[in-house]
Amino acid sequence: MSEEDRVPGASAAAVSTPDGKADRGGGFPVVDRQDFSETTFLLEVSHPQMARAARPGQFVIVMLDDHGERIPLTIADFDREAGTITLVVQAVGKSSREMQARMVPGARLFGLVGPMGIPSEISDARKVICVGGGLGVAPIYPQARAFKEAGAYVIGVVGFRSRELIFWEQKFRDVCDEFVICTDDGSAGIKGLVTQGIEQAIAAHGDIDELVAIGPPIMMRACAEATRPHGIRTMVSLNPIMVDGTGMCGGCRVRVGGRIRFACVDGPDFDGHEVDFDDLMARLARYRPQEREALDRYDASCRRLAMAPEGATSEKA
Ligand SMILES: Cc1cc2nc3c(=O)[nH]c(=O)nc-3n(C[C@H](O)[C@H](O)[C@H](O)COP(=O)(O)OP(=O)(O)OC[C@H]3O[C@@H](n4cnc5c(N)ncnc54)[C@H](O)[C@@H]3O)c2cc1C
Ligand code: FES
Repeated sequence: MSEEDRVPGASAAAVSTPDGKADRGGGFPVVDRQDFSETTFLLEVSHPQMARAARPGQFVIVMLDDHGERIPLTIADFDREAGTITLVVQAVGKSSREMQARMVPGARLFGLVGPMGIPSEISDARKVICVGGGLGVAPIYPQARAFKEAGAYVIGVVGFRSRELIFWEQKFRDVCDEFVICTDDGSAGIKGLVTQGIEQAIAAHGDIDELVAIGPPIMMRACAEATRPHGIRTMVSLNPIMVDGTGMCGGCRVRVGGRIRFACVDGPDFDGHEVDFDDLMARLARYRPQEREALDRYDASCRRLAMAPEGATSEKA
């Protein structure tokens, strides 16, 4: 990478500019945004090189600005012709909330590294259930599409808390032979968890070859337990805490089949029947007090900014 290709303030090894060209504005422009709910939003980001290279199941590591935290986000979709990748974010803590507040069309993400992780294996399964829940609904879409393109019969099962939170229904219907929505409150589709949708699909089809699930660990564990008695191959996409994303820091250590694996380089997809979900959940909860503290500080700084007289400046969060 030449000197002029560098994004100001970013390390050359960590960040490249879109299409390998110098972007004198620095960073990666947000070209579209959709808000699905109060907490979930979609960003379409211009990065032709990334859009060309991305495969289902891969992720990027994003930095909002030069002092921002590195956060991993799945590439929920990519458009090679338009040269964009799609990220769907759930604002759960300080960095994702800040991203929600600042990333509007025209704004720029400071850093975008990837595509990272081993692409999902689109096996030669003839009949597949693709399950997404919570922040897993968006990333399961490219896998459902890839299975469909490979000629499989695809049953999509997605879970939301209620009807107002549903997104991408038509997009899923276009690539699924059957599509089941589950809601916690019964306001749309089946009332209940995605496992009910899975049990319904297994009862109707005796020849399911594979299930792929993305969502909160507790959901993926329930999916793996639903398929275990039937001997259905079950792949899950793990979301441990990641820092460097290159296998160096050990932050994303997971236990699979009694062995230690690093989700960023050995995954993120693993055999759900072999994953130690208790260990994953314990590790995810490890920094809760610090995460709470960072969010409280951010909220307080937002309140101070809102109360400050016009023209006054405020310290950073
Ligand atoms: C491979 C992978 C793909 C992911 N894809 C998506 C996605 O497409 N959309 C999405 O909304 N979220 C995704 N996540 C989770 C996302 O990275 C976290 O929600 C985000 O880092 C939270 O940061 P925060 O500062 O907003 O919240 P915090 O308050 O810092 O953390 C909230 C919770 O997020 C998790 N988390 C925090 N820091 C990290 C980290 N560095 N790496 C992983 N998890 C963390 C922890 O469970 C934590 O309890 C993915 C995680 C991984 C590992
Ligand atoms: S994120 Fe550091 S080893 Fe995987």
